[in-house]
Amino acid sequence: MDNFELYNPVKLIFGKGEISKLPDNIDKKSKVLLTYGGGSIKSNGIYKQVTTALEGYNIIEFGGIEPNPQFSTLMKAVELARDNKIDYILAVGGGSVIDGSKFLSVAIPFKGDEWSILTGNVKIESGISLGTVLTLPATGTEMNSGAVISRKELNEKRPFGSPFCYPKFSILDPSVVASLPERQLRNGVVDAFVHVLEQYVTYPNKAPLQDRIAESILITLTEIGADVIKDPSDYDLASSLMWCATMALNGLISKGVPSDWGTHMIGHELTSLFGIDHGQTLAIIGPNLYLKLFDSKKEKLAQYGRRVWKHKGDNDEVAKEAIKSTQKFFKEMGMKTKISEITTDFDHAPQVVFDKFKERNWLKLGEKGLITPQIAKEIVEMSF
Ligand code: NZQ
Ligand code: ZN
Repeated sequence: MDNFELYNPVKLIFGKGEISKLPDNIDKKSKVLLTYGGGSIKSNGIYKQVTTALEGYNIIEFGGIEPNPQFSTLMKAVELARDNKIDYILAVGGGSVIDGSKFLSVAIPFKGDEWSILTGNVKIESGISLGTVLTLPATGTEMNSGAVISRKELNEKRPFGSPFCYPKFSILDPSVVASLPERQLRNGVVDAFVHVLEQYVTYPNKAPLQDRIAESILITLTEIGADVIKDPSDYDLASSLMWCATMALNGLISKGVPSDWGTHMIGHELTSLFGIDHGQTLAIIGPNLYLKLFDSKKEKLAQYGRRVWKHKGDNDEVAKEAIKSTQKFFKEMGMKTKISEITTDFDHAPQVVFDKFKERNWLKLGEKGLITPQIAKEIVEMSF
C-alpha cells in the first residue's frame, strides 16, 4: 500500500426531508447566490423546499447552468456575484450545477484570467463557501474537490481541483431521485460504476481493504442498477444508488492505490466533440480501454471477474470475461457501447483526441503511464 493523506471536510447530510436543515448550515447573515440548472428543480418541488427552508435569507438566483457547464455561462454568474458581493453559494442540482458552482467559488475572488483556473497554470488561493443540495446521484462531486468545466468555443472540457472546492456541506435526500428521467439514471449508475473501476482496475497494490470496498460498491450497483432505473421512486433503491455514487468518488477508495482515469479523459473528448452524455462516453470507452491495456491490467481484471462477476477459470479467461460482463452490464443499463450507434460523423475523432492530448502534454496517462496520445487514438478507433 502506498503512503497517503486523507482529508475530506464535507459535512454530508443524508436522508428524507433533510433539505429543511439548510438554515442550520448557512449563516443567516450570508448573501447567498442560489445556483441551479435548466429548471428541473422548479417542476419537481426541490426549489420550493429550498426557498421555504431559506425564507428570510438574502438570496440572489442564477439559473440556467447547462449540462457540461459552460465557461461563458459561468462567467455571467461570476459578474453577478461580484456586483452583489456574494459570500455564500448554494448549488442545487446535479454534477453540472455543482461543478459550475465550484468554479464560481474560486473564480469570483480570483484575480487574473479565470480560464487559467482550468488550464492549470495558476495557484488557487481562496474560495467562497459552497453548500450543495444534490439532485442527481452520479458524479460524486458533492463530496470531492474536483470539477469539470467546458468551453465550447475551444472544444474543451477540462477538469480542475482545489481544496477550496470541497463543499462545506452537501444535502443528499434520495427522494429527489424519483423525478429523474431514465437517461439520467442510466448515466448515474454507469458513472458511479466507472469511477470505481478507474480506481480499481489498475494493478495489485497489496491494499485488500481498498479492493474490498471498491468491489462492494460495484456489486451493490450491479444488484440495484436495473431496479432503480425501472423504479426510481423506490426510496430504498434510490438511497443505495445515492450512497454508492458518493462513496465511489469521495476520495476514500483511491487512498494508497494507483488510479487510471484514462476512460474519463478520453470520454471527456467525446462529450466535447459530439455532446455525448458523460456516463454514456464511459460506457463506450471503458471496455475498449481494458482490451487495449489488457496485459497491464490483467491481474486486477481477473480479480474483478472472480469477485464481482463470479467467473471461474485461469486469469486470462476470467479477465476477458470480466470485460465482456462489464459491457453487457452497460447494455443492460440501457447504454450504447459504440460511437457509431450515436453519430455517423466520427472519422476525425481519433486524430482530434491525439492532437488534444499532445497539445496538453498528456503524454503518459493511466496508472503506469501507458496511455500515450497514440494509444488514446487507438482506443477511440476501437470504439467506432
Ligand atoms: O438542468 P436541470 O433542469 O436541473 O436538469 C438536469 C440536466 O438536464 C437533470 N436533472 C438533475 N437532477 C434532476 C434532473 N431532472 C429531474 N429530476 C432531478 N432530480 O439531469 C440533467 C443532467 O444533469 P447533470 O448535472 O449534467 O448530470 P450529472 O450529475 O451526470 O453531471 C455531469 C457532469 O459532471 C461532470 C461531467 O463531466 C459532467 O460535466 N463530472 C464531474 C465529476 C466531479 N466533479 O467529480 C466527476 C465525473 O466523472 C464527471 O466528469
Ligand atoms: Zn465520471
